[in-house]
Amino acid sequence: MPAVEVRDLSIAFGSREVVHLEHLEIGEGEILGLAGESGSGKSMTALAILGLAPTVGATVRGAIRFEGRDLLELSPRELRDVRGRRIAMIFQSPVASFNPVFRVGDLFVRSLLLHGAPNRREARARAEEALRGVLLAPDLLGRYPHQLSGGQAQRVAIALALALRSRVLLADEPTSALDVTVQAEILQLIRALRDERGMSVLFISHDLAVVAELCDRIAVMREGRIVEEGPADDVLRAPRHEYTRALVAAVPKVGRVGGGS
Ligand SMILES: Nc1ncnc2c1ncn2[C@@H]1O[C@H](COP(=O)(O)OP(=O)(O)O)[C@@H](O)[C@H]1O
Ligand SMILES: [Mg+2]
Repeated sequence: MPAVEVRDLSIAFGSREVVHLEHLEIGEGEILGLAGESGSGKSMTALAILGLAPTVGATVRGAIRFEGRDLLELSPRELRDVRGRRIAMIFQSPVASFNPVFRVGDLFVRSLLLHGAPNRREARARAEEALRGVLLAPDLLGRYPHQLSGGQAQRVAIALALALRSRVLLADEPTSALDVTVQAEILQLIRALRDERGMSVLFISHDLAVVAELCDRIAVMREGRIVEEGPADDVLRAPRHEYTRALVAAVPKVGRVGGGS
């Protein structure tokens, strides 16, 4: 059974449909890459899975199966629980997604108390363990979000998902704002989460080279639709759709992956 299965998903702003997906699934323990140019509907797809698309004014129809339920039919309360705990999302600018008035430690403690930690002490212990899991020192818990580097902030966001024991991670351009070295570290970390904890990941990027490096499978979106989907190696080596061919050709590094030439 896939971790998340999307069927006949339609996302619209007024009468303008911006996403139309017949089928998309994130396999259990899989890293699925969602690639495609800016404006193709990648972020809206992730927001819809998280139940947040209506908060930006979009209308969502279809079905999103997760743990035996349709996320589009949950009550606001049930949805909040799924969103806070079972499905986590990280963004391009992690610092901006943290509440600036709380120290990192308080962010963890508040989330963990809200989602099942019995007391502050236990929450604090889980926070420290999660930070170690992303190779950050526990003393970072004393800092404010603006005192973190971009790479540290992204690690903290990932650690929060770890602490909450999320099953699915939606990563929307998580490395696009980072320099190349830090970007590689974050990709490695996401891979480790999958390898060691079996987390299922939707990895969104406009950058096919990054997607190629990390993902098991790739879905390519264009104008709200998936134009091509398959194992990463196949898509890169023998893209079937003209649009994918253009994307692959635009990234010299990608042409080499598994191609032997
Ligand atoms: N709040 C909004 N109001 C109206 N249209 C929006 C809004 N947010 C996104 N869109 C439109 O939805 C489409 C898909 O956007 P998005 O999912 O952000 O693309 P991507 O993440 O692939 O760059 C785009 O055409 C964008 O203009
Ligand atoms: Mg986007």
